[in-house]
Amino acid sequence: MDKIIIRGGKRLSGTIPISGAKNAALTLIPCALLTEEPLTLRNLPRLADIDGFQHLMTQFGASTTVAGKRPEDFGRVVTMEAPRLTSTVAPYDLVRKMRASILVLGPLLARAGEATVSLPGGCAIGNRPIDLHLKVLEALGAEIELAQGYVRAAAPDGGLPGGDFTFPVVSVGATENALMTAVLANGTSRLFNAAREPEIVDLCNLLVAMGAEIEDIGSGDLTIHGVKRLFGTTYKVMPDRIEAGSYACAAAITGGDVLLEGAKEKEMAATLHALRNIGVICEVEKTGIRITADGPLKPVNLSTAPYPGLATDMQAQLMALLCRAEGTSVLTETIFENRYMHVPELARMGAHIETSGRTAIVHGVDRMTGAEVMATDLRASMSLIIAGLAAEGETQVRRIYHLDRGYERLEEKLAQAGADIERIGDE
Ligand code: EPZ
Repeated sequence: MDKIIIRGGKRLSGTIPISGAKNAALTLIPCALLTEEPLTLRNLPRLADIDGFQHLMTQFGASTTVAGKRPEDFGRVVTMEAPRLTSTVAPYDLVRKMRASILVLGPLLARAGEATVSLPGGCAIGNRPIDLHLKVLEALGAEIELAQGYVRAAAPDGGLPGGDFTFPVVSVGATENALMTAVLANGTSRLFNAAREPEIVDLCNLLVAMGAEIEDIGSGDLTIHGVKRLFGTTYKVMPDRIEAGSYACAAAITGGDVLLEGAKEKEMAATLHALRNIGVICEVEKTGIRITADGPLKPVNLSTAPYPGLATDMQAQLMALLCRAEGTSVLTETIFENRYMHVPELARMGAHIETSGRTAIVHGVDRMTGAEVMATDLRASMSLIIAGLAAEGETQVRRIYHLDRGYERLEEKLAQAGADIERIGDE
């Protein structure tokens, strides 16, 4: 397994290009199942999870072709086409590798009237149930059955009638499955307390470009008028607001001055607000957002929340930054029950953090020292990279396959901004 070596203390400067959003791409790709025409997605990030999802799509008979892009370019143009579905089964050995596979449930059901998808396992950050996915599909008229570790969804004869559903808990994935199902239902569906994340807006914009009828996009109350069929189109994936926020923390912890090329202010508002309270200068420019940190880092209290609140996917990265603040910060993780696995690894580098349940108390320290540390999940591994950039000496981050799931060519992007970082294959 590869590992990443960082020799800390280098100030980041220059420009870091932001790739297409992983969490948008993972819900845009299955939309190719909703039409027999070709769907072309531009700005798709080169990530393990994206490759994995494209492989899963072939399971149902979809073809995927990658348009010519120079290997050194970031992002890819991929065309997927599913003129007819050869299967509506997503098997365990594919789903267990990537829990986002559950996002084929709605599109298969909507297109073929049936779907059989292996239940995704939990993951490091929580048990991640899918009860809301199943409840909302039932509200749209599907019959749901659980057996042998699979969920089977079936539409009644004559197709899904559509229906209304109020989410008791905001769920990004369940909202995405609901949208990809309701667009082809026979009637109108209304979703209340739906997720409002920018990735949901990206999905709605793609579905509308394919011919869907969706009202109040961006709000938590969505009305979807089912249509008979959807059409192919070409669509550019939004920039990755979490990747951008992660590199903002990297620039800040090194006292750097970095332009996050392609980053968008509105989608990052809560992260930028937190960074500004920490004392980081965030300036919106024509081509992106410039991050400058030339003064002391101030402690803050942060609590994650559904959009437009502070993204849970930014918690670990901000915690790494706050390890170097002059004072004590309090972080509250309200979304997932086990998202502090980066804490013991940061402690190996000299961080002083106490956790109790959903709360973490981060006592800023004057210095951190490089160490051998272990990535446990995607965002935790990024927090170790961020800490390593400012630690004295050498940091070795192992199990970086976690990183490759969400950060396109991370060491290249950081190295060209001045970091002393390299990836080496393990013995
Ligand atoms: C998406 O996961 C993202 N993944 C996650 O990003 C992100 O952390 C999360 O949304 C929250 O923003 C993708 O988009 C691929 P949820 P998702 O359904 O859809 C509970 C990353 O690092 N819940 O909004 O799985 C759930 O347990 C990843 O890029 C139920 O109880 O998240 C959690 O506590 C990590 N029942 C809360 O809701 C359900 O049926 C929010 O989960 C579904 C969810």
